[in-house]
Amino acid sequence: MKHLLKMLDLTTEEITEILDLADQLKYELKHDIPHPHLKGKTLGMIFQKASTRTRVSFETGMYQLGGYPLFLSSNDLQIGRGEPIQDTARVLSRYLSGIMIRTFEQSEVEALAEYGSIPIINGLTDFCHPCQVLADLMTIREFKGKLTGLKMCFIGDGNNMANSLIVGCLKVGMAVSVACPDDYQPPKEILDFANQYNCFELTDSPVQAAKDADVLITDVWASMGQEDEAEKRRKAFAGYQINDELMTLAKSDAMVLHCLPAHREEEITEKVFEAHSKEIFEEAENRLHAQKAVMVKLMA
Ligand code: CP
Ligand code: NVA
Repeated sequence: MKHLLKMLDLTTEEITEILDLADQLKYELKHDIPHPHLKGKTLGMIFQKASTRTRVSFETGMYQLGGYPLFLSSNDLQIGRGEPIQDTARVLSRYLSGIMIRTFEQSEVEALAEYGSIPIINGLTDFCHPCQVLADLMTIREFKGKLTGLKMCFIGDGNNMANSLIVGCLKVGMAVSVACPDDYQPPKEILDFANQYNCFELTDSPVQAAKDADVLITDVWASMGQEDEAEKRRKAFAGYQINDELMTLAKSDAMVLHCLPAHREEEITEKVFEAHSKEIFEEAENRLHAQKAVMVKLMA
């Protein structure tokens, strides 16, 4: 494993290794056991979009590993004034030990990896959010004691979160059921991968998708960069909500996850959100541990 660009690139064994290391690092942190695996290393963190969790968890994680994080807002980098990503990659590779990037186009992340000579970590693109899904899998395993054989149901936009969840959950042996409006299905690349699995289902019916689910997950109706479409999307996604009614169709001990930020009364009701806040905020915490594991695997 040289980079973390998308879940499609990871093998099941690599996912399991990351989750195992994340559990160990979480244990060590809770027990004040130092783990300076990245002493003397530097991580550049390029942000072309806003972030609370990704920025703070990578920055803190790098500190806890003995390394040094640099926050690089694209507004202040020459990227923001048009310097090509290919040149940025070759320059930053000469200063840093690794780069985490949050941007729009997946092709930019792939170009950084192609032209640079250091590990690249995808901190979210329009196409995928692998760091979040590793934390989600870690959280599911923590609460359920296993992954294989469980059913994950995703309700909402066939966007970055859905894409990574579909791939990640199928790779670890979970059944996946996704409910999206027809015009908001995941892209062909993801569906082509998913359709190789008998345990994958795509529907426009949240009721169908939620049936007997062990884990229900949703995401905002309008993602970063889609603010102009918010009104149109509010109409298209009406009914694609995790609420009490939907929860009655899932298993009685089903858990609920949300990558956050959440829009209450849109994709999830306040009541369901608060009833499952224990899982949701453990999921947020696990970003830290899962990403530390990724950084150790790639940069130590
Ligand atoms: N879930 C997530 O990536 O959160 P941020 O946008 O706050 O980083
Ligand atoms: N789909 C959301 C995820 C935020 C973490 C977005 O891209 O804005």
